[in-house]
Amino acid sequence: MINQLIPKIKKEISIIKSENELMNLKSKYLGKKGELTSYTNSIKDLSIEEKKIQGPIINSIKKEVESLIATKLNSLKRSLIDKKLAEEKIDITLPSKGTSYGSTHPISQVSSEIVEIFTQFGFETFEGPEIESDYYNFEALNIPKDHPARDMQDTFYLNEGSLLRTHTSPMQVRIMEANRPPIKIISPGKVYRCDSDVTHTPMFHQIEGLLVDKSVTFANLKGILNEFISRFFGSDIKTRFRPSYFPFTEPSAELDIEWKDKSGKKTWMEVLGCGMVNPKVFASVGYDAKEFNGLAFGMGVERLSMIKFGITDIRYFYQNDLKFLKQF
Ligand code: PHE
Repeated sequence: MINQLIPKIKKEISIIKSENELMNLKSKYLGKKGELTSYTNSIKDLSIEEKKIQGPIINSIKKEVESLIATKLNSLKRSLIDKKLAEEKIDITLPSKGTSYGSTHPISQVSSEIVEIFTQFGFETFEGPEIESDYYNFEALNIPKDHPARDMQDTFYLNEGSLLRTHTSPMQVRIMEANRPPIKIISPGKVYRCDSDVTHTPMFHQIEGLLVDKSVTFANLKGILNEFISRFFGSDIKTRFRPSYFPFTEPSAELDIEWKDKSGKKTWMEVLGCGMVNPKVFASVGYDAKEFNGLAFGMGVERLSMIKFGITDIRYFYQNDLKFLKQF
């Protein structure tokens, strides 16, 4: 009987599918009232000779059964883990939600584009302070205290004598003060005016240009700016220089471009102010106006961007609306 026990148990174990069933089998054979336990218990009733023979046999069978059960328990546990792993497998072939990247603000994009064009023309870039003195922003640019031109720009005043620059033109003075001609620079940056509507924000961006040398002419001014416009807007854009007034240039002009609005109607759009450097400005930086002359221009980056992209409200640039920003 006991000899058939091992094959019988092996067979029973082979069809077991759960730890529970295995534990039942264990108690069936090895438990207090188990089959093998009863053999073990019966050893004590045997004769000494019989004990010597049966004892080791029963013990070895018991050990083998224990090891069969342990092996099965291991394999049951492993298959449980395998099953769990299979269920939790990540499907790497599923399409992802996608990543969204930040991008350069349209004003920065246009600014860099303008700077890039003038760099190709050989202009060097310098930036200046946004908090300016009355002297650089007005006085040295031929706009004295009671000059009506001060009303052209609504200024944010800070302490006595300092203000938020209303244009990038003070950089003309700063650059000329610190250098001798030839000078060929542009200066991009933020400017401030107390003004707010669909085409004005209290802070906006300008790019100033200044070229000073021995024989600079209005033809040079026209040539440079026409070439700039054709690179920036496209080669077949028509331009016109319309006489204007700025205290720091003489003569002064505004540059208009011919632009088609959404309905296809052609209109002239003002894009920048420019002129020949006023000898009074040269005087304030100690240049001899008989020896040197120069051209200057200043353009609004928001304005150029609005025309280029067909944007009708300047405030879109500063609302941080992703639907707007993602179009650039
Ligand atoms: N500073 C002028 C403005 O803000 C623009 C300008 C610059 C005009 C240089 C002439 C020369 O409107």
